[in-house]
Amino acid sequence: MSRTAQDYIKQHLGAYHPQTLIILGSGLGRLGEQIEAPVFIDYKDIPSWPQSTVAGHQGRLIAGQIEGKEVLCMQGRFHLYEGHAPQVIKDVMTTFKALGIKNLIVTNAAGSLKKDMAPGSIMLITDHINFSGKNPLIGVNDDSQGPRFPVMSEAYTPAFQEKIKKIAKEENITLKEGVYLMVLGPNFETAAEIRAFQILGADAVGMSTVPEVLSAVYCGFNILGLSVITNFGTGLASDFHGHEETLAQADKAAQNLTKLVRRFVKEI
Ligand code: HPA
Repeated sequence: MSRTAQDYIKQHLGAYHPQTLIILGSGLGRLGEQIEAPVFIDYKDIPSWPQSTVAGHQGRLIAGQIEGKEVLCMQGRFHLYEGHAPQVIKDVMTTFKALGIKNLIVTNAAGSLKKDMAPGSIMLITDHINFSGKNPLIGVNDDSQGPRFPVMSEAYTPAFQEKIKKIAKEENITLKEGVYLMVLGPNFETAAEIRAFQILGADAVGMSTVPEVLSAVYCGFNILGLSVITNFGTGLASDFHGHEETLAQADKAAQNLTKLVRRFVKEI
């Protein structure tokens, strides 16, 4: 990303120096509304910044405070299925690194690959499988930004996982945990693909997050990943409770996710 994007964001952040970036996936919209003393920076106004093309998605940064802590939120992310080059996501993350970001909280909507993880569940991402066939770190490496061969053995920061599990326990919120598998999308999976992903060891499937996490590991960020389970994977929904039940559960999950993230931000 050009220096101009960095300079533009820095200028508009004013007195804010957030160290935590939150990517607001589906289910965390409400958290965006709860940010105190917000400053909004529209993607369309940031020089050479990619644009979000998903209909109805606001593309903007929100800087402000949650529980007295400064945060920077991405409301609207860049999916590879929109046609963005994967490197765009690395460029966005390195720009945030240059602005002082050290922690990433990434959220998403995902399909469940497990019968006992119903829509409405929240899943702590403990690891991932990059099934997208794409990688944001491909290209000439600038060693001053990050390593050529980043290590992924602890991509999802163990101490962050412990902290969110403790918070969930104290708040009496059920937190599932598992492996997130990224597909490129935009289509949902076939039933055969879902069966294959179960055999591969995945617990949830979605179309985002992995490029952001690869880029964030590259940048040296601490990472917390959370999925809201919005549906069963194709072919798994025989005991499905119906759309209304799902919506109600998704809403409850969103409330719980907001609660978890608020406390997490307060405590890091
Ligand atoms: N598959 C892929 N991406 C998703 C799904 C799914 O079932 N649900 C939400 N995002």
